[in-house]
Amino acid sequence: MIIAVDGPAASGKGTIGAALAAHFGLPHLDTGLLYRAIGRAVAARIDDADIETLATAAAQALDLTTLDADRLVGAETGILASRIAVFPGVRKALFAAQRSFALQDGGAVLDGRDIGTAIAPEAEAKLFIVADPEIRAERRARQFEARGETVDRAKLLRDICERDARDAAAPHGGFRPAHDAVLLDTSNLDIEAAIKAAIAEVEAAMARKKASR
Ligand code: C5P
Repeated sequence: MIIAVDGPAASGKGTIGAALAAHFGLPHLDTGLLYRAIGRAVAARIDDADIETLATAAAQALDLTTLDADRLVGAETGILASRIAVFPGVRKALFAAQRSFALQDGGAVLDGRDIGTAIAPEAEAKLFIVADPEIRAERRARQFEARGETVDRAKLLRDICERDARDAAAPHGGFRPAHDAVLLDTSNLDIEAAIKAAIAEVEAAMARKKASR
């Protein structure tokens, strides 16, 4: 069973992906971390003319086993990630690792932007998580505050809108829901309700798969 959980920045897809993985006993990959790790690796040279070559080399050298989620969560790292994610060489270099994670025996949960469309189009369950930008910014603010960080809410909202705009204009055509994805709007759901709704959608997808055999 492959479960694809896609959606924009701070939509809740990471939390939902992790909860689905725990519920169904599957391994989980937060693919945003791969782009974040590369963004961090080339941060000092992000405005260099040869940034595409540098970022592609960093993507080819990336070791999935060394990803440190705690170091990669910040808003600035998210912006860096979205800047290097537009390079075709970076996406190509990260494709194989994501695809083999998806295809491992027993299945997996992957969350990101293009899991249902590009990485694992054959996924049996595809969710596309959305929420209003203001609500996403507020959730991020609370996450950072819970970690004791000072938060500038207006800047967080600007960062989210900047990333949405860059992700929508990406050269590969932008990120959109797969034609067979279920849209889950979490704007008016707390996290427990969002997880419950996601589990119900995956169970419905599993039942459809069983019925079609
Ligand atoms: O999901 P997260 O906020 O960690 O993603 C950071 C950035 O990495 C996104 O804004 C997007 O530009 C990029 N990304 C991507 N494809 C993915 C996951 C993330 O291009 N599958």
